[in-house]
Amino acid sequence: SMVSCIEEYITNDSLIKVPENYIILDQEPPISDGTVFATIPTIDMKQLVLINQEELKKLHSTCKEWGIFQLVNHGVHSSLLNKLKQEIEEFFKLPLEEKMRYKVRPGDFEGYGTVVKSLDQKLDWGNRFYVNTNPINTRKPYLFPELPTSLRNTLETYLLELQRIARTLLGFIGKLLKMNMEEMEPLFEDGMQSVRITHYPPCPKPELVIGLRPHSDGSGITILHQVNGVQGLQIKKDGVWFPVNFDNDAFVVNVGDILEILSDGIYKSIEHRATVNSEKERISIAMFFMPKLEAEIGPMTALRDPIKPSSPSFMKIGMKKFVEDFFAHNLDGKSHLEQMRIRNS
Ligand code: SIN
Ligand code: FE2
Repeated sequence: SMVSCIEEYITNDSLIKVPENYIILDQEPPISDGTVFATIPTIDMKQLVLINQEELKKLHSTCKEWGIFQLVNHGVHSSLLNKLKQEIEEFFKLPLEEKMRYKVRPGDFEGYGTVVKSLDQKLDWGNRFYVNTNPINTRKPYLFPELPTSLRNTLETYLLELQRIARTLLGFIGKLLKMNMEEMEPLFEDGMQSVRITHYPPCPKPELVIGLRPHSDGSGITILHQVNGVQGLQIKKDGVWFPVNFDNDAFVVNVGDILEILSDGIYKSIEHRATVNSEKERISIAMFFMPKLEAEIGPMTALRDPIKPSSPSFMKIGMKKFVEDFFAHNLDGKSHLEQMRIRNS
């Protein structure tokens, strides 16, 4: 197997022809021509922390009905975000040989690029770097620790702040769902955290390719940041694809498959995809926060009525197996989650 990145096809920044293995002709089109955007709910972190009941109610209904929201007043300083933008832009500008020091190794998911397993495999129009960052002892010595020092330090600070936000949100969510916190919180103690940084170069025929194919995240919660302010995310709501526009100062938070499972389907993970455009490059960073690898996940017991227990909607599964299955599915809508659903007849 080999590792592919779009850069190999780009000459002098002038893309003349889209290579065959990036062309996907059977994509479901979005509802509009790109001039109409879905407005997703905004949640104010400051108000949550002040235990504003209205805001908490809004968080609950948004997680049930949308599975995605914009988070404002998140407390991450704009100077840190500016630094992150600069460092990430520099990273993607490094010569290809430099970045290939981090290339994904066969049988692995972490690193730079995409492993190409067969010649007819369809590829995403994005150069990506994906890495586990927590627990610290799971960091592969040739990946995160070998990143340019300034990028690594900035990422370290950023990821700690995002972990704090994710924990705070999960705390509110657990209470809104009336979970037993002694059952829920230990799952996330020293939980798994990973990050995917993606650079989507401009594409001469954006409608023929996909930046990131349709999927829901295999996370508890995901926090996405559009690093250079270029839009491109689309969500599938009520069976229809919508482009979404975000406030550049907001983070995009989405419910992942694991939270759908823990909540026994009360909250829904959102199916989404990333598109590219013909003029601007786009850069995003997604932080995934998950239970620890030793945990077993399933619908939380406190959600069940002890007098009249209904049967759970999802089966229990160990995190290790969950993660392996997730990557084996190779991003394919919500099919990964659906195979864990218990069909009650
Ligand atoms: C993106 O918007 O660039 C990525 C979305 C995702 O991580 O699924
Ligand atoms: Fe995603």
